[in-house]
Amino acid sequence: MGANLARKKTIPKPMSDAIPGSLQLTDYWNNSATSKVFGHPIPDAVIEAYFPANAKVLDIGCGQGRLSRILADMGFQVSGADTSTAMLAEARNNAPNCEFRQSCEGRLAYGDNAFEVAIAVTLFTSVPAASEQRQLISEIKRILKPGGILFVSDLPLQWTDRYLARYQAGQERYGQYGVFDLENGGVVRHHEQAYFMQLVSDLTPLKMETHEVVTMNGNQAQAFRFVGQLSVGQHSRVLQY
Ligand SMILES: C[S@@+](CC[C@H](N)C(=O)[O-])C[C@H]1O[C@@H](n2cnc3c(N)ncnc32)[C@H](O)[C@@H]1O
Repeated sequence: MGANLARKKTIPKPMSDAIPGSLQLTDYWNNSATSKVFGHPIPDAVIEAYFPANAKVLDIGCGQGRLSRILADMGFQVSGADTSTAMLAEARNNAPNCEFRQSCEGRLAYGDNAFEVAIAVTLFTSVPAASEQRQLISEIKRILKPGGILFVSDLPLQWTDRYLARYQAGQERYGQYGVFDLENGGVVRHHEQAYFMQLVSDLTPLKMETHEVVTMNGNQAQAFRFVGQLSVGQHSRVLQY
């Protein structure tokens, strides 16, 4: 009886501890650098409305430099950050007019208040651990100038049977609904909207909309776009739009 009671009182290790961090997922992204095609767009209307002309932009989770290149060709001063050396090699080749640095465990190798705009396109899907997502948000707030803009395009929870089965398996394995395994060792996360809005709650939301995308694995999916603004703060200047 006493032994049984002692066993019942043992607090189980939370399953979410098993969600891999980006260091454990780097091999997956390195192996994807020349095979995956990413397609989330940044509409011109969003750029015109929210990105100040000639702004310094940080493309976080820049992958092969697809969006860095587009933005640099539009006149923005673009830097890129990624954990994967193979992705960074592709990015340097594809976007020679940009500058790229490796990031590690949610830390960005850039100074404080350095950028007017940060973009994170399918970054949070690629960072399934909540603690690391929060670390990235904290870093984004650090590298953005007061009044700076964060653009996110990412994936909410989907409602097709195929995804529901994957989320169920992910819930059983990782203890977190929305986190799921890909083939070849990848682990990604789709987000409940309320969870995502909580993640970015230190920014003022300027835009939230949904749209259709084709994922890197060729599946049709619902995506969302978010634009948020860092508060100006008492010592800071307001960006002119
Ligand atoms: C789905 S790809 C998107 C690439 C690019 N944003 C695009 O849309 O073309 C996600 C990228 O995030 C990178 N990544 C994963 N975890 C990261 C982290 N903690 N910090 C920065 N980049 C990360 C991966 O290496 C990969 O290149």
